[in-house]
Amino acid sequence: MTKKQGLKIATIGGGSSYTPELIEGFIKRYDTLPVRELWLVDIPAGKEKLNIVGNLAKRMVKEAGVPMEIHLTLDREEALKDADYVTTQFRVGLLDARAKDEKIPLKYDVIGQETNGPGGLFKGLRTIPVILDIIADMERLCPEAWLINFTNPAGMVTEAIYRHSNWRKVVGLCNVPVGMKMGVAKALDVKPERVHVDFAGLNHMVFGLDIYLDGECITEEVIEKITSEGSSMTMKNIVDLGWEPDFLKALKLLPCPYHRYYYKTADMLAEEKKDAEEKGTRAEVVQKLERELFELYKDVNLNKKPEQLEKRGGAYYSDAACNLIESIHNDRGDVQPVNTLNKGAIASIPDDSAVEVNCMITKSGPKPVAVGDLPVPVRGLVQQIKSFERVAAEAAVTGNYQTALLAMTINPLVPSDIIARQILDEMLEAHKEYLPQFNK
Ligand code: G6P
Repeated sequence: MTKKQGLKIATIGGGSSYTPELIEGFIKRYDTLPVRELWLVDIPAGKEKLNIVGNLAKRMVKEAGVPMEIHLTLDREEALKDADYVTTQFRVGLLDARAKDEKIPLKYDVIGQETNGPGGLFKGLRTIPVILDIIADMERLCPEAWLINFTNPAGMVTEAIYRHSNWRKVVGLCNVPVGMKMGVAKALDVKPERVHVDFAGLNHMVFGLDIYLDGECITEEVIEKITSEGSSMTMKNIVDLGWEPDFLKALKLLPCPYHRYYYKTADMLAEEKKDAEEKGTRAEVVQKLERELFELYKDVNLNKKPEQLEKRGGAYYSDAACNLIESIHNDRGDVQPVNTLNKGAIASIPDDSAVEVNCMITKSGPKPVAVGDLPVPVRGLVQQIKSFERVAAEAAVTGNYQTALLAMTINPLVPSDIIARQILDEMLEAHKEYLPQFNK
């Protein structure tokens, strides 16, 4: 194969423990998605992890016998130069910052979560300036590339890119919809290919509007099944508290696992506090899991993705990512749920906002499938979260204290302006190293 054939992919945050997922996905699809070069790039603090996971990636590729070159670098410019696709999976401040996002709000009896409430706001404040910086590099070094962002909070990040940059070749991606579809298939005991879900909403705030089995609408049956068998469908990172059956039957929609933070706030808070005391917050659990994973990754005899990675919340992440890139590359026109510009697909959300919705995936990007208005019972919450995301993105870009306070206060998980201010002040101090825009 000559140099010109095949694709160059740059993965920012390449030292992540999730990288073997991605490698597995590219290997599986090599025939239709010939990746010539995969550049894993990270920051100097992530060098050791990058080397460990990068060497595993090299062994995986060798074992599979595909001619994919794996490059490891700390030089982002070198990685981005002439890339066809850039994927982002970085975490500003690493898991220590996530632990603070999860712990500090708990002191104020507020949900502490990576992408929801105050934690979600702060993850956005840390991440958005960095993603905009990456985009500035991409404008110079790979202006034709697609940016596929998995970095959380993925919805807010996608919104920020549309509002605060001129970059349009971006897709925000999450494994929640695919996890929900798999959950339905499991509850029905059928192959996932037979299930179709009409997804609409926002990232980590997405609903299954209707569910189909072999083309037949079975939403009510699925809800009946979930409520009667207590199989509430969750992900590894969210405690499996079952739904009140009559609530779900009245809702007539499939909520995503994260909706528990909004519809079961008190119970989730109690669980979080108990967990924080007994085994640490999710970030602390994941830190332990990561240490175990990296020990495994070091084993020179390991040449495939270890099963232990499935203990992370990001299951099916590689399938979602690689399916998306494969469909853009081959102009498949298949339907996948992604984060993209609404363009009227969801009537209750502004056209120029990012939404998570089923899209036809083409060479020129995702084409959202119109769903009309969201059902009345959920419309207000989704709109409120969208308002929060917009104000939060503005705060991230401007570093304006009052805008950040506004974002914190309008978040539905924060009970008052005064508590919002207390949490904001404590978190601004705790994260100041990663928030230069607030410390000018
Ligand atoms: C889910 C979410 C991801 C999130 C992950 C956290 O998969 O969709 O956005 O990153 O959970 O999982 P973790 O194992 O880090 O708690």
